[in-house]
Amino acid sequence: MSATKHENLSVPQLDPYFYVSRDLADIFEKIHLLSRKKPVNVLISGRQGCGKSSLVKQYAAIYQRPLSTFQVGILSEPSQLFGEYALEAGETKYKQFLFPEAIQTPNSVIHLEEINRPEHPKALNMLFSLLSDSRDVWLEELGHLKVADGVVFFATLNEGEDFVGTELLDAALRDRFYFLLMDYLPNEVEKEVLIKKTGVTAAQADDIMLRSTSCGGTPRCGSMYPHGRP
Ligand SMILES: Nc1ncnc2c1ncn2[C@@H]1O[C@H](COP(=O)(O)OP(=O)(O)OP(=O)(O)O)[C@@H](O)[C@H]1O
Ligand SMILES: [Mg+2]
Repeated sequence: MSATKHENLSVPQLDPYFYVSRDLADIFEKIHLLSRKKPVNVLISGRQGCGKSSLVKQYAAIYQRPLSTFQVGILSEPSQLFGEYALEAGETKYKQFLFPEAIQTPNSVIHLEEINRPEHPKALNMLFSLLSDSRDVWLEELGHLKVADGVVFFATLNEGEDFVGTELLDAALRDRFYFLLMDYLPNEVEKEVLIKKTGVTAAQADDIMLRSTSCGGTPRCGSMYPHGRP
């Protein structure tokens, strides 16, 4: 599917320069504790490049959980995440993808990218039941699949000029998530991260940031609220 196996289902490396605010650290801890008791799905929304994917990765790194990432944006039919029929030595055989293995791996973190943009709206159908409290799904080829204990689903979506937050998400899907809204790092934090990560001087960092159009957002990272959940 989206990435090769060696990149997936392994615990990612901690980024020593990744900035986590106090609020965000608290949210991480809440997600972690909650996920030991009940199914947790978190939807992260924010503009392009504000750090959504890195956040999911760092969550997995901090809590030492295997991470796997899947592109929902390229799905054109519901079962496509799970596997496909392929011709092998003149015979048509069903080949299972990584997704079924990932959801059955206890405590794993599953990142569903661009959940608001599948190529076909029905592509999300099977995810609905996996993300519900029952956390299972039935496929003709694989039978009954149950999500393992402690698995956390993170879905990310890009806010565009024309839409914000979860507006474009199907209501049924939206209700299954806690919602985390992100924005770009505050300027002074971004500057510090830039200096630490690249070794540029403070003056050079100022210059880079002046040229960049991506700075200056109001920091709002750190708010998490349930959508349709008690
Ligand atoms: N809190 C942070 N601390 C340090 N670096 C960060 C932080 N957030 C984002 N970055 C850096 O910003 C860059 C973009 O982050 P990332 O790819 O995670 O954004 P994204 O929101 O997933 O982007 P896209 O919308 O393209 O999917 C990465 O190089 C990442 O390391
Ligand atoms: Mg991303």
